[in-house]
Amino acid sequence: MPYAAVTGWGKATPERVLTNHDLETMVDTSDEWIVSRTGIRERHVVGQQDSTTSLAAAAAREALARAGRTPDEIDLIVVGTATPDDFLVSQACLVQAELGGSGGAFDVGAACAGFVTALSVGSQFVNTGVYKRALVIGVDTLTRYVDYTDRSTCVLFGDGAGAVVIEATDEPRGLLSTVLGADGAGHKHLYVPGWGGLVPESAELFPEYRPYLQMNGKEVFRFAVQVMGDAAVEAVSKVGLTFGDIDLLIPHQANLRIIDAAARRLDLPREKVWVNLDRYGNTSAASVPIALAEAADSGTLADGMNVVLVAFGAGLAWAAGVIRWGTAGVPS
Ligand code: ACO
Repeated sequence: MPYAAVTGWGKATPERVLTNHDLETMVDTSDEWIVSRTGIRERHVVGQQDSTTSLAAAAAREALARAGRTPDEIDLIVVGTATPDDFLVSQACLVQAELGGSGGAFDVGAACAGFVTALSVGSQFVNTGVYKRALVIGVDTLTRYVDYTDRSTCVLFGDGAGAVVIEATDEPRGLLSTVLGADGAGHKHLYVPGWGGLVPESAELFPEYRPYLQMNGKEVFRFAVQVMGDAAVEAVSKVGLTFGDIDLLIPHQANLRIIDAAARRLDLPREKVWVNLDRYGNTSAASVPIALAEAADSGTLADGMNVVLVAFGAGLAWAAGVIRWGTAGVPS
């Protein structure tokens, strides 16, 4: 069975930075509250010139360059996103329009778990021998759906994109285990009313009506602490490893307290946990691939290292997996 090694990675964030101090001037909050309850200090947010497509394409170009591949060599584009630029055309097709190429292109909807879920989908096309190369992207521009008068949500989110190229190899590299799960009944704790095909009660208010993200923070927090730990533990045991074999944990960057709880479950010291939410906030589907790209760029990752990816989000859905780093056996 071919494996699906990660051969390229990239990330992109909007230029505009919104700090906790900026938010202090917008809602009744404080830098101290945000840092102590979430760990977030600033986040990048989209401006007029940005779109889900522009961020995804920028991250994808970087990943392709790193892999030394052209868009024509990509058999498949899978995008994890909850904020596509268009509801009829897949975000993957919009990215392909920017990059070029003619392979398959479709989206996966799993909110913040979108990238890890999309990676599991893309990897399986490679594992089954159907395709040799895929571009997998996690991207979101969730701040367009954040109510900047609601202090309980507006401090949490940022925008961005991350991408990887995966390629067939006979060596055990890339995603070695996958754990996917969902608690569909919990969808009511985190959603955007009126954003989709279901006509909202307030439809008569169009065109003024804007859909805004609604969240029951306490319920989502409880859910996240539970599933992040459980899913990461299952992903490690599925591949026959122990926690001692794990070199790095890359968790969804939603809240430092949730990340710390997951790290405790895996018995990992802080230096083995990638944390960047202080600079990006929660970028939804982009959070894991941005962190992965940062870790790779920093030289932290070496051939043969085992990296746990774990994410949770609206759905409520979760996804985890173990990646073995390196490109051994990938034909050039
Ligand atoms: N600034 C100051 N005070 C605030 C703020 C703020 N930004 N937000 C809430 N508060 C207040 C509340 O009003 C409350 O005041 P009260 O006690 O007078 O009622 C107090 O702070 C405590 O509020 P809690 O909700 O109990 O705060 P908590 O410690 O639970 O932290 C938080 C809230 C950060 C939202 C937390 O619950 C959390 O992180 N939940 C998970 C959220 C998450 O990860 N969502 C993303 C999911 S991924 C996706 O798919 C999009």
